[in-house]
Amino acid sequence: MKLSKFIKKAGMMITSLALVSSLAACSPTTRGGENVTSSLKEGDLIGISMPTKADQRWNVDGGNLVKELEAAGFKTQLAYANNSPSQQSTDINNLVSSGAKAIVVASVDGTAVGPAVQQAKDGGATVIAYDRLIMNTEAVDYYVTFDLERTGILEAETIIEKLDLENGGGKDTPYNIALFAGSDDDNNAPYFFKGAWDLLQPYFESGQLVDPSGIATKDFKVEDWKKISVHAWDQTQAQKQMDAIMTKLGDQPLAAVLSPYDAISLGVMKSIKNARPDMSPSIPFDATNPTNKSAWPVITGQDGMDIAITNIYYGAQAQTVYKNVSLLAEQTTNIIKEISEGKTPTSDKEPLNNGKKDVPTWLMQSDELVKEPTGDQKGLDYVVETGFITEEQYQKNIKAPIIE
Ligand code: BGC
Repeated sequence: MKLSKFIKKAGMMITSLALVSSLAACSPTTRGGENVTSSLKEGDLIGISMPTKADQRWNVDGGNLVKELEAAGFKTQLAYANNSPSQQSTDINNLVSSGAKAIVVASVDGTAVGPAVQQAKDGGATVIAYDRLIMNTEAVDYYVTFDLERTGILEAETIIEKLDLENGGGKDTPYNIALFAGSDDDNNAPYFFKGAWDLLQPYFESGQLVDPSGIATKDFKVEDWKKISVHAWDQTQAQKQMDAIMTKLGDQPLAAVLSPYDAISLGVMKSIKNARPDMSPSIPFDATNPTNKSAWPVITGQDGMDIAITNIYYGAQAQTVYKNVSLLAEQTTNIIKEISEGKTPTSDKEPLNNGKKDVPTWLMQSDELVKEPTGDQKGLDYVVETGFITEEQYQKNIKAPIIE
């Protein structure tokens, strides 16, 4: 840092420190990298900006945040951006105009939302990135999310086990696997993929796994993830991408599909059914008979959506990585409460860098849901136990298969 800049910055810090000590209930946050005081107090309005109502989990997330924050004595205003980055910026501006003293943002596009949160910050609001990190800006104070790589690790472990790769599965005839990553504008997506690729890559190296599309080879890198990403986590887009892979696959067997999200998994399944009606979940991939062309691949997922509960129950999907999102809402509320009490929230986890700063980060633990759990895995009804859906909805989910 240049000396003049340092002196200016130091001067500002002293001014803001003096302000903090004169206002006992105020706590420091950063504005453009410099300390300013947050006037956040109990009873204030908290703005919540969620990406879309079209995806089951964000509806639950929004509802949980409203419930937790109101129980802690705050007012809330909740907006959904219809998966549009510009709508989300408008939403955030509106929340700030309504008087929000903190905003909680699950971004549609982690980079595009930067200017809007900068404006919120300039207006004195605390900015909390929720589930998805806000990128390349100083204007984010805290980040609450789940252990990101764990998603990919759990997915890859299931594939490795079902394909019996550790015992040489695919050594005689390589197993075909299709690979998908999440949305290109979501900073979570490469972490999910990294968790999986670190475990799967050695089997590309040994020749046990091949990608029929030819995109992923043993030399594929985590940094190449956008080549297999599905924009906006869109089911129809995933189906199209899988159509292209199925064309390359022809009449060969397909052992597995790495999918990072339940709706992508459903798009994949629809494509498989169209291209290869002979394949059926009633004939699951069997490592003792891997050349059976009609066998249904091992397909992963994430979120514990209703469609995943159905697909897992009827054998179309092997697992889903389930995030008990009520934990995120609780942690977010704790942070806001602490600030309102004049405390500085601190996490014992490593901060995550967003390209501009190290953002204090809290990581929750996800679970793997399967039909017949062993070890640490959970059964499908865990979604009811943790309040994600009702028992009634669960019963609807297991009534009839989506894919046969
Ligand atoms: C979330 C996932 C979710 C995906 C699609 C990601 O940012 O972390 O839980 O499956 O977005 O909505």
